[in-house]
Amino acid sequence: MEYQAKELFAKHGVTTTLGVVVETAEAAKAAAEKLGGVTVIKAQVKAGGRGKAGGVKIAKTADEAHQHASNILGMEIKGLTVNRVLVTPATPPEEEYYFSFLLDRANRRYLCIASVEGGVEIEEVAKTNPDAVKQIPVDPGAGVDEAKAREIATEAKFPEPVFEQAVAMIESLYKVFVEEDATLVEVNPLARLAGDKLEALDGKVSLDDNASEVRHPDHEGFVIREEEDQLEAKAKDKGLNYVKLDGQVGIIGNGAGLVMSTLDVVAYAGEKHGGVKPANFLDIGGGANAQVMADGLDVILGDPQVKSVFVNVFGGITACDEVANGIKGALEILGSDATKPLVVRLDGNNVAQGRAILDELNHPLVTQVDTMDGAADKAAELANSGKQSA
Ligand SMILES: Nc1ncnc2c1ncn2[C@@H]1O[C@H](COP(=O)(O)OP(=O)(O)OP(=O)(O)O)[C@@H](O)[C@H]1O
Ligand SMILES: [Mg+2]
Repeated sequence: MEYQAKELFAKHGVTTTLGVVVETAEAAKAAAEKLGGVTVIKAQVKAGGRGKAGGVKIAKTADEAHQHASNILGMEIKGLTVNRVLVTPATPPEEEYYFSFLLDRANRRYLCIASVEGGVEIEEVAKTNPDAVKQIPVDPGAGVDEAKAREIATEAKFPEPVFEQAVAMIESLYKVFVEEDATLVEVNPLARLAGDKLEALDGKVSLDDNASEVRHPDHEGFVIREEEDQLEAKAKDKGLNYVKLDGQVGIIGNGAGLVMSTLDVVAYAGEKHGGVKPANFLDIGGGANAQVMADGLDVILGDPQVKSVFVNVFGGITACDEVANGIKGALEILGSDATKPLVVRLDGNNVAQGRAILDELNHPLVTQVDTMDGAADKAAELANSGKQSA
């Protein structure tokens, strides 16, 4: 969120104003009184276009701050509910610039995007006047020193009165990007205030989760539990690779590639069955024991949208009989919490033993199908009838 991005900016010497984050209109009023003068009340949600959605308002008095905060709190912006607002001194920009560093995976390097025509219309500028938005590749090995920062500032055409500040700012923003292991650092607007003072009036930082545990234990402090998707948070606690999607067929598979192709075949099969879609990505990886299977099923069954579950496993190092025992164990662990039909497709190492275990189990919720396409079709069909009876 913006206020968290600004904390990281301040830590690395990027000029910004932290402001005060509050969760009630009363606290917004108190913060505005304390700051004195004109303030800006800004919705804190992880989405762009907050200003256009009515989530950024100027308050001339503390009472107005109260008024705006009570309107903004509880508002929905791009599907996200606003639970907190930032109260910050109003510093009207004379000019608004756009600046970002991001990870350019396709080209295996970093990319700097900069424009002196920043502000809330930057997406429009990029479309109608792409030349005004400069893209400057950055070699991760060489990084951004003063000379490179100067090159970027020149390319972006930062005007003379703020040029030197821009150079220093670019170096500091690069520090945020690299030292915090970010995949994106964005400032829009990077504002030229009265007296040619350059300041980050907004900020957005995406941190690389892979770096958090060992390299940045402090990043855990940025996680706001109630803002996280509840199922994703639960999956994270259990060490599962889970991404919630917007469909009805729960998916469990082993190996990211197999799970990705399972999503495809289910989406395809769903076209014949009322347009049902995959409900999630879940890769249980190599060790598909009973506990991992139970944890996975528990997360998926906790999604009220899910109407059927497709377990698609190709036995390799973890053989099919172990997976079958995992499913059996998971159903025992879950007991009456398992309520939705499971379609299981096992193939690969020890497939005959695996299928025999499930045949013998003869569980009313479990259907075995031998092929991936056949199983996807069955899972989609069951999800569709579950959807209709719901
Ligand atoms: N402290 C401030 N003082 C005065 N004006 C401000 C301040 N902060 C933001 N603004 C104005 O409000 C606009 C929108 O604010 P901000 O960029 O924070 O929200 P946004 O809607 O998230 O923008 P976007 O998503 O397009 O980046 C800014 O472009 C700027 O003109
Ligand atoms: Mg902005």
